[in-house]
Parts: sequence; C-alpha cells; structure tokens
Amino acid sequence: MGKLFDRTILITGGAGFIGSHVVRLFVKKYPDYRIINLDKLTYAGNLANLTDISHEANYTFVKGDIIDSEFINKVFLDYKIDSVIHLAAESHVDRSITNPLEFVMTNVVGTVNLLNAARKAWGDFKSDKNLFYHISTDEVYGTLGETGLFTEETPYDPHSPYSASKASSDHFVRAYFDTYKLPVVISNCSNNYGSFHFPEKLIPLSINNIKNMKSIPIYGKGENIRDWLFVEDHASAIDVIFHKAKTGETYNIGGNNEWKNIDLINLLCTIMDKKLNRPQGTSASLITYVKDRAGHDMRYAIDSSKLQRELGWSPSLKFEQGLEKTVDWYLANEEWLKNVTSGEYLKFYEQQYVAR
Ligand code: NAD
Ligand code: DAU
Repeated sequence: MGKLFDRTILITGGAGFIGSHVVRLFVKKYPDYRIINLDKLTYAGNLANLTDISHEANYTFVKGDIIDSEFINKVFLDYKIDSVIHLAAESHVDRSITNPLEFVMTNVVGTVNLLNAARKAWGDFKSDKNLFYHISTDEVYGTLGETGLFTEETPYDPHSPYSASKASSDHFVRAYFDTYKLPVVISNCSNNYGSFHFPEKLIPLSINNIKNMKSIPIYGKGENIRDWLFVEDHASAIDVIFHKAKTGETYNIGGNNEWKNIDLINLLCTIMDKKLNRPQGTSASLITYVKDRAGHDMRYAIDSSKLQRELGWSPSLKFEQGLEKTVDWYLANEEWLKNVTSGEYLKFYEQQYVAR
C-alpha cells in the first residue's frame, strides 16, 4: 500500500520561477505532505528548475492547463486535493501589453476554474485542512509617489493588463470567501529576484546581457523604483502564511528594500565586473536608455508589518548579499541559462516524462 500523507497540496505554476522555490521548500521540509505540481509548461515553466527534487516520493508533476475546467476538476478528484497554493500565471508586464487576452485567460479564467473546482471538491469531502491560497502581487495597488507604502488597505488601482488581471483574480478569490465561505487567503508580494528567474525580467536579463557583453536596456530614465525581495524569502513567507494565516485575510510581503532601477543596475555592474575579472566600468558601459514601458508604474514599496507582527515572518537576506548570491548562481549555471535562452529547455518535459 502507498504511503499515507498528512495533506495533499496542489501547487500550480510550480515549474516557474517562484513556484519552483515553493515546491522545493515544501517537498524537502514536509515529507508527510504530498505535493502535486500542476503546470502547463509555457515558455516560463521549466522542469529543469526542479531536477534536484523530482524523484522524491512526496512529489508528483502533472502537466496541464488551468483554463481547462474538466481537467482541473479531475485533478482535484484523482488526487483528493485538500489545499491549493496557486501561483500559475502569465507574469511579465511587457508581454501583457502585447497580448492582454492571454493574461485574462490564465490569470482570471484559470483562477476562477480552480476556485470552482475547490468549491466542488471540498463540498464533497470537506476537511479542516482545506485552504485556497492565492499568490498575488503588489502591482494591484498601482503606483506610489515619492513617499508612502502599500498596506493591505490600499485601494486597488492596476495600470497594466497584467496587474488588472491579477487584481481581478484577487477580487474573485475574496468573492468566493464572502459568497461561498471558501477558505481562502491572499498574499501580495513585491518584486522577487534569485535563481531560476527567467531572463526576460530586469535582473536576470541584465546578468545575461552583461555576461555576453550585450546592451542593458533601461526603460525611460531608469528612475522607477521597485522593492526587491529574495525569492527564497518569498517562499518562506508563503510557508508561514499557509500554516498560520487566518482564512479570509490578506498579507503584504516585502523586504523594505527600495531601489531605483538605474542604481540597482549600477550595483549589478560593479558586482559583475568583479566576478568576471573585468576592469570596473566595463559592464556599466553597456547601459542603454530605451523607450519607456507604456503605463510604467513609478514606484512600488510594501509595508509588510502585518505579516511580521501577526505571523512572525521576516526576510533573511540583505539585498547586496542576495544580489551577489544570485550573480554567483547564474555564473555557476551557464548550462541552465544557455538552455532557456536557446529554447532547448522546452524539450525537457519530453525527455523526462514522455519518453519513459
Ligand atoms: P513565472 O512566469 O516564472 O511562472 C509561471 C508558471 O505558471 C510557469 O511555470 C508557467 O508554465 C505556469 N503557467 C502559466 N500559464 C499556465 C496555465 N494556463 N496553466 C498552468 N500553468 C500555467 O512566474 P513567477 O514570477 O514565478 O510568478 C508566480 C506567481 O507569483 C504569479 O502568480 C505572479 O503573479 C506572482 N508574483 C510574482 C512576483 C515576481 O516578482 N516574479 C512578485 C509577486 C507576485
Ligand atoms: O512587483 C511585483 C511584480 O514584479 C510581479 O508581479 C511581476 O510578475 C514581475 O514581473 C515584476 O514586475 P516588474 O514589471 O516590476 O518587473 P520587471 O523585471 O519586468 O521590471 C522591473 C523594472 O525594470 C521596471 O521598472 C521596468 C524596468 N525594466 C525592465 C526590463 C525587463 C527595464 O528598465 N528594462 C528592462 O529590460
């Protein structure tokens, strides 16, 4: 007879950047939990992010699309899912400007499909373990002026198709709590950085370009501000919220770490010159100012005091340490970077799963 697990958790988007860190943390830390990683493996999903844990007894990968409601219902029934950590999404703002509908489909329709499936399944086999944990972003709050922080009470004011789709999904999650008493929790996090980050986002794109002596595109004047958090600290916050949060609540996650884009890139250039043994100033000479992003939010900054005070979470790494650690990871994982930039990683699923 197979092992009996304490919980069976569906993690969606577990082959992506943040999802892979959450899957790894849960698989390793909780051998008595069964982790079902459901991912469509879009361009952003990469099973090579999880090679170190893919053979663990408490880990199962399921390829599928959250837009497909029949398939989602079947996953809930087949695996007797008792809780969900929902990360699957289209996540890149620039792509949402070119193709908004894809964001509506995955981020809004996909989330509602999951909510419906949870509601149906947990109506049939209700348990005190049931929890629908929705992972969201600080971008739903819009943009800040020179001062102030986003709190859980800040009104929603999204500006990009991406943030509008995430805001919509958050509203649906809250509506299912109010209307159907589905046990839900939401967290809204600031910009993440770290290993396995797809090189279309500012930090990994710049690392890759610097490595290859290609230009570093800075939108507008480079004066926009983001609040950066090391991805493993986001994963640890998700662990704490999953286990300790009161249902119906929202928590902001952030590291109190605001950086103007151009200052961040200059710091990265200094680190890269040192690591690559290049004369100081080599990487900075690659900085190129380009046309601004449409609807570009000026400043994000998170107040995470509720999470720190009520659930006892705090970030573990200072930004300078985290950035250096991230650079080291990219330089030590050239093969990963080469595969994602060439598209070779898209064959990984066939090699790992279909060929068996
Ligand atoms: P990502 O783009 O790296 O990964 C998304 C994952 O979702 C991929 O593995 C992809 O294959 C999967 N996916 C996409 N569409 C799917 C579909 N229709 N069905 C099933 N799987 C699908 O994203 P990320 O940066 O890891 O972000 C994860 C979550 O965290 C998202 O919900 C995002 O909005 C949120 N978030 C991200 C950040 C950040 O800085 N990256 C910050 C706050 C919140
Ligand atoms: O705040 C959380 C959000 O952070 C998440 O919800 C998103 O999924 C995630 O992608 C991220 O969104 P941003 O738009 O802030 O991240 P990005 O890395 O795309 O851009 C960071 C900043 O750098 C932003 O001000 C735009 C700028 N930028 C970005 C790129 C890709 C550049 O100047 N040049 C670039 O080439």
